[in-house]
Amino acid sequence: MAVTKPQTGLIGLGTMGAALALNIAEKGFPIAVWNRTTSVTHAFKAGAGELADRITPADSLADLVAAMAPPRAIILMVPAGPAVDDMLAALTPHLSPDDLVIDAGNANFHDTNRRAAAGLPFRFLGMGVSGGEEGARHGPAIMGGGAREDWDRIAPVLHAIAAKHKDQPCADWMGPAGAGHFVKTVHNGIEYADMQMIAEVYGIMRDGLHLSAHRIAETFADWNRGVLQSYLIEISAEVAAAKDPLTGAALLDVILDKAGQKGTGRWTAIEAQHLSAPIPVIEAAVAARNISARLDERRAGEAVYGPAPEPTPGVTLADLQDALTAGKILCYAQGFTMTAAAGVAFGWDLQLPAIARVWRAGCIIRSSMLDAMAQALTEDPARNLILAPRFTAEIKRCLPALRRIVAAAALHGHALPALSAGLAWFDAMRTARGTANMIQAQRDFFGLHGFDRLDGKDLHHGPWAQA
Ligand code: 6PG
Repeated sequence: MAVTKPQTGLIGLGTMGAALALNIAEKGFPIAVWNRTTSVTHAFKAGAGELADRITPADSLADLVAAMAPPRAIILMVPAGPAVDDMLAALTPHLSPDDLVIDAGNANFHDTNRRAAAGLPFRFLGMGVSGGEEGARHGPAIMGGGAREDWDRIAPVLHAIAAKHKDQPCADWMGPAGAGHFVKTVHNGIEYADMQMIAEVYGIMRDGLHLSAHRIAETFADWNRGVLQSYLIEISAEVAAAKDPLTGAALLDVILDKAGQKGTGRWTAIEAQHLSAPIPVIEAAVAARNISARLDERRAGEAVYGPAPEPTPGVTLADLQDALTAGKILCYAQGFTMTAAAGVAFGWDLQLPAIARVWRAGCIIRSSMLDAMAQALTEDPARNLILAPRFTAEIKRCLPALRRIVAAAALHGHALPALSAGLAWFDAMRTARGTANMIQAQRDFFGLHGFDRLDGKDLHHGPWAQA
């Protein structure tokens, strides 16, 4: 087969980079690849089977650029952080102003903003890619940020390799500069929260209902056929069913309860604070990972205070399912309102319906509920999802179960940080007359910060101001 000189290139043949390069080649685009270790580059081509003809290995960055036809588009799949800056600097002497470099790692969007503003001597996009290795190989969700014309140039490749929801590619331009990486960050915050809420209901099944991992697997598999249908519920069924190859025990029962994190969920929580955007479910999920890491302290705590008494009265599987459904809606409502706040703060025209559409397939948080969310956001992008009729009905249906589960867990000492944060947020959001009048009076008392009045009258301090 004659090889067309590729216009697409990829740097970094780790797990994700290799999978993405094969996906690109499979969709008919010839691709030049380079990896820091030359033997990896050649082994990649040698292992590419019938796709090898479309792959041009390069031994140096100069070779990579020379092997490509201009204008080039080079995807970086290197670790987020300084490695990206190093690679941009290393590419600089080789590239022309029309060449395009796409950072497809999990960059902090502030870094992408900085790089976009740095006056690089070539075109630059920041692109969030979700879906793990399987997604990268067969169809990820793609969230692009940068100049629209640069996105449009590479869009045919990205649309071809992206996951499809009913034939629509889950790849879209989110906005300028770091907008794509920002949306990926929110995705990961929601990913943390979805995972945490699933872990919480798993904990009640295990400790409160004394269900075996096998029974828990069956329950998740059953839920995956209903309103909770999602990739994360599907894999939770699979992991609960898995056996430990060493002992033959349920795999979940031999895994240390200490969660790792690369930090994207934390970035979401930090950014939400900067934006004054309340996302307590996501914040609770980040905190829960940090709490999980304090294993010795938790063991010491249990030694002093004792374990939660078991089994937990008043808990049913039907309630757990509905509680998780409510928690999920509340969490996504928070994620989307945070995204809207970021759009205003950063001057980005972030399109919430488009974001929901991109998340419907390929990414880690893909779920059938996202299709309904995309529709609700299309009807009215400015409306909080908890006020969208299709979700108000579902929240009203599931709320009593969420209350029962959170109450039972609180009474009997099971930690449900994310689900209870969702419920508290919801109750605050449905309370017209809140309690911040007390905060305002206190602030005025000790600092004369002033307050607004319900009656609109022009007196903004308490009597203490005269003293
Ligand atoms: C995705 C994931 C992925 C993320 C891992 C690990 O969308 O494919 O979000 O990008 O890096 O899930 O994240 P943590 O190590 O922070 O859990």
